[in-house]
Amino acid sequence: MIILAIETSCDETAISIVEASGEFSTPKFKVLAHCVSSQVKLHAEWGGVVPNLAKREHARNIIPLVQEALAQASLLEKIEKSEQKISLELQQKLAQILAREPEVLQHILDFTAQYRAPKFDVIAFTRGPGLEPALWVGVNTAQALSCVWEAPSVPVDHMEGHLLSPLLNYSTPPDFPILALLISGGHTELILSKSWLEYEKLGETRDDAVGEAFDKVARILGLPYPGGPEIGNLASQAEQENLPKLEQKLPRPMINSGDLDFSFSGLKTAVLYLVQKNPEINKAEVAREFQQAVIDVLLAKTILAIKKHAPKSVIIAGGVANNQELIKQFRAKTSETFPDINLLVPEAKLTTDNATMIAVAGYFHALKNEFVKDGEEITADGNLQL
Ligand code: KG4
Ligand code: ZN
Repeated sequence: MIILAIETSCDETAISIVEASGEFSTPKFKVLAHCVSSQVKLHAEWGGVVPNLAKREHARNIIPLVQEALAQASLLEKIEKSEQKISLELQQKLAQILAREPEVLQHILDFTAQYRAPKFDVIAFTRGPGLEPALWVGVNTAQALSCVWEAPSVPVDHMEGHLLSPLLNYSTPPDFPILALLISGGHTELILSKSWLEYEKLGETRDDAVGEAFDKVARILGLPYPGGPEIGNLASQAEQENLPKLEQKLPRPMINSGDLDFSFSGLKTAVLYLVQKNPEINKAEVAREFQQAVIDVLLAKTILAIKKHAPKSVIIAGGVANNQELIKQFRAKTSETFPDINLLVPEAKLTTDNATMIAVAGYFHALKNEFVKDGEEITADGNLQL
């Protein structure tokens, strides 16, 4: 099955084409195209993602990116001049679906006038969670392309995409139960999965997500958006230069609360007060102490969840799993304390938002025939829950 996947939940427009085969217990994936168009520079000027700017950029870039992905996958085929264009009836249907994305409509009409319908089987698209104006572009584009190319479409939960992203790097799938720590710009969750596509939320953040805390602390330190990688780099600089540790330790919020919830807003405020009191403070030292506070809390809660639920596999995924120090400490701690547990982490380029992970999740839902039905109205859902 060849899957064209669309991801527009935040500030990356992403299209992937993935060839998938096998059953649930024996899935195989081959990435034919992996395209990401980042809007980071644009949003950096505003210090964070501006939803309507994101929507505009997605609408501008999505079909050119589909074209780029199809070319990468060798699925792009030019039409001879004499061949017919799409019918008036179909054009009207597309205009209805893309009433709020006229630019996408024009791109699709131009595209279909020049290229044959590409040979693939399914369109997978992110329906939520995320920024609704941004999500809508992907949802509507998926529905329009599904009409034009007569391919079924399957909606995907963005967080499920993150959770399943490590499957691309391992030849055998993880054993259940799986404990997943999902850490991104919008989410911090511990999820227990006892079988394919079934999830139980064990705990989550009560305020800021961990990626959000990285971004806000970076802003306090005068670093550009997105702050996660900036803080990671500064922290490793502090380590390499052997800088002294901060005298005043930052708090580890809720580390001993006994439950599996998180809170990062107080940690961010503690950094703010620290920097206000000590304007000359070394930013690299603050970055390292902040990062360590985050790692300590995430590790403590994950260990507690392991003790309570005895998983066979642990997955860490989402943008913050891009942090190499965090992964290093998780690997060291789990292999020492729980040598029988299989720790799975996506490769670095699959930690942050991409459509390859949406294709993987879409494949499993396609195996269960969970396609959008004819005439079904499909909506973006910014607060979709696993
Ligand atoms: O998963 P993701 O790309 O988007 C969401 O679904 O939110 O995650 C983005 C988040 C941002 O907050 C970003 O600062 C953070 O992941 N991030 C990192 C690193 N790379 C990205 N945080 C810490 N260290 C990193 N290396
Ligand atoms: Zn994400």
